[in-house]
Amino acid sequence: MQPKKIFEGVYEINGRIATLNSTPGKRAYSEELKIVDRKEYRLWNPYRSKLSAAIALGLKNFHFKNSDKVLYIGAATGTTVSHISDIVVDGRIYCIEMSERNMRELVKLCESRPNMLPILADASEPNAYSDYIETCDVLYQDASAREQAKILLSNARFLKRGGYAYFVIKSQSIDISKKPREIFESELKILENDFEVIEKTSLDPYDKLHLFSVLKKK
Ligand SMILES: C[S@@+](CC[C@H](N)C(=O)[O-])C[C@H]1O[C@@H](n2cnc3c(N)ncnc32)[C@H](O)[C@@H]1O
Repeated sequence: MQPKKIFEGVYEINGRIATLNSTPGKRAYSEELKIVDRKEYRLWNPYRSKLSAAIALGLKNFHFKNSDKVLYIGAATGTTVSHISDIVVDGRIYCIEMSERNMRELVKLCESRPNMLPILADASEPNAYSDYIETCDVLYQDASAREQAKILLSNARFLKRGGYAYFVIKSQSIDISKKPREIFESELKILENDFEVIEKTSLDPYDKLHLFSVLKKK
């Protein structure tokens, strides 16, 4: 069961996706730990993380690098962020989350992961945190909000030109009366002047009614 490298910082161990634990001995949630050749890996459950689900489904564009700066919108309690924190181990992740309850959990996790910086804020009002954020290489958004494309657009100024945005669209948060496909199309249309869509995939069977898209800033 030698780990096979899939992307920078991402491995496959016995058919399961994993990251190298940057805080050996510590779990971020209830993930399984595996030690191989005296290195500790954290298994990355595709049912718990949409980025892991996208990788399991054959994602082609994975652009997180060791020293990247990442803006993460909708950090929740840090499940996915913790794996990105293992990957951009010499970089930094600005974790935006508006729920105080989730933020309490997230802050505990950030204490043991110094590359994760928690920011309690509503991402639809980025002026509130613009003084604390530097230009980022990657933007990741998974926010269960109503105006998801609008939020991404208002945060695009923090992403460098040519930088990648991972945009998870949850149709149920936008309008339950419309077909998900119509919602995905209209959300991506809002972004077309500023971003090129380079990849999109459904997350079925891991997560229903979501579109996982990869965009490149023009
Ligand atoms: C599906 S959860 C995110 C799960 C997380 N990305 C993960 O994979 O571990 C969506 C999160 O978005 C947050 N959220 C929704 N609207 C937001 C907004 N306008 N600003 C910041 N966070 C928001 C919610 O509080 C919730 O924690």
